[in-house]
Amino acid sequence: MRTQYALVTGSSSGLGYEISQYLLEEEYVVFGASRSETDITHPRFIDLEVDVTDEESVQNMYDDIGKETYGLHLVVSNAGIFEMGSVLDTPSEVFLDHLKTNALGPYNILKFGHDFMIKDVSHLIHISSIAGKRGFENVSAYCASKFALNGLVESVREEWKSLGVRFSTLMPGAIDTPIWENISDDFERSKMLDPEDFIQVFEMVVKSPPNMQFSDITFLHKSGALE
Ligand SMILES: NC(=O)c1ccc[n+]([C@@H]2O[C@H](COP(=O)([O-])OP(=O)(O)OC[C@H]3O[C@@H](n4cnc5c(N)ncnc54)[C@H](OP(=O)(O)O)[C@@H]3O)[C@@H](O)[C@H]2O)c1
Repeated sequence: MRTQYALVTGSSSGLGYEISQYLLEEEYVVFGASRSETDITHPRFIDLEVDVTDEESVQNMYDDIGKETYGLHLVVSNAGIFEMGSVLDTPSEVFLDHLKTNALGPYNILKFGHDFMIKDVSHLIHISSIAGKRGFENVSAYCASKFALNGLVESVREEWKSLGVRFSTLMPGAIDTPIWENISDDFERSKMLDPEDFIQVFEMVVKSPPNMQFSDITFLHKSGALE
């Protein structure tokens, strides 16, 4: 079988880490992109230091990827940040940080990755959130950034139609990852999905027929969204 190449942003922690491990098991060559290093040591894992909010950093990352492959079969735009706070207590820098990481970051990944699209083959998977579909109290910066991400993906899907690439967007509810560690509210972890649950859905999307894309796949714990 021909080598399959995947780019995973936010590979140093949480879902990106699990996605990278899963794709390595599935025989992909994985470019893992985060600001910090991961502890994944695998001959098919290539750790790249990148800040997705920074154009030059993203362009340098693609220069490095270009030394290994001409194209990417899978791009998983997963890097993200999440903070909670009321609109009155959220400094505008924090609001902007969310937009930069969760919306401008995926924009940079798409824009500068265009030359790596393989016609009729590449699958672009974005990890959005249920917070990209509805509002939550004290989550305005994050919600705004995930709504923006969804708008970005919906538009680029139309623009790149002639390329025949697929766009799938996952919109999970809460998942028990390190993203919750800095949240002061005491949410019950037992009411969150596990990363393994997430990987089951991710696998279904990755292994779906090549003529299929998932424009909105929403899934959450059976107890409902965390409020
Ligand atoms: N966990 C949940 O409940 C949940 C639910 C719905 C959606 N999501 C989404 O799932 C994605 C992954 O979240 P997670 O729960 O796995 O969080 P996490 O454990 O905090 O991981 C976030 C990852 O994003 C990377 N990252 C952050 N800013 C970056 C930047 N500027 N450039 C490059 N990488 C950056 C981090 O690496 P560095 O710090 O090393 O850069 C880290 O690898 C996010 O988009 C999140 O919004 C999570």
